[in-house]
Amino acid sequence: MNGRNTNGLVIALPKGLLYEGSAARLRAAGIDVPADPGRRLTINSPDGTRVLLLRPTDVPAYVEFGAADCGIVGADVLWEAESNVCELADLGFGACRLVVAARREDRYHEGAQLPTFLRVATKFARTAENFFAERDLPVALIKLHGSVELSPLVGLADLIVDLVATGNTLREHDLVVVDEIASSTARFVVNAVRFRAKYDAITALLHKLEGTAVA
Ligand code: PRP
Repeated sequence: MNGRNTNGLVIALPKGLLYEGSAARLRAAGIDVPADPGRRLTINSPDGTRVLLLRPTDVPAYVEFGAADCGIVGADVLWEAESNVCELADLGFGACRLVVAARREDRYHEGAQLPTFLRVATKFARTAENFFAERDLPVALIKLHGSVELSPLVGLADLIVDLVATGNTLREHDLVVVDEIASSTARFVVNAVRFRAKYDAITALLHKLEGTAVA
């Protein structure tokens, strides 16, 4: 990575599911980012903007500590991160639901009271813990980092808490939604100090991101 960019904005972008929508909106806002960044870590746009290409869960840290001025990140990541960033806007794309799901044959989706001390596998341990605590349902949480849908199929967990976008992954594994926790979309976040220092540039970018109707 080159030295610090002091003039243009530094924008943290998540790789993965939100990348395509984020890149499309940045392009519509006049920032030159490719549809497929490959394995690049940064993109320097001719207009002076630098884009950092990050794991989605790392976006809040880059913004919180000022390595990026602002960023795009899923609400689901913010729920889990406990980070000190300011959410300025819901950008509306990248919609998905955070749900509790289980094997169809276990029939937890049929409405009966769930038994206590079920094992719940998830990437969203904090959000899941809060959800079950609010329902006074003690569970055993198992923190995973991916392929969560596998865990009930091989006896690791009784339930999963995971994101559903198209629903294909659940369907392909004969898993069904037991309960819905929340809906998530892409959010525009800023570092509060940088927001004051670069108010005009960040506000202009936000207006362009909100005003561009890219699918
Ligand atoms: C996410 C999520 C589900 C899947 C849902 O996983 O955790 O597994 O996408 O998408 P769908 O409803 O459209 O099938 P991701 O692709 O981030 O991979 P991971 O399981 O390795 O985290």
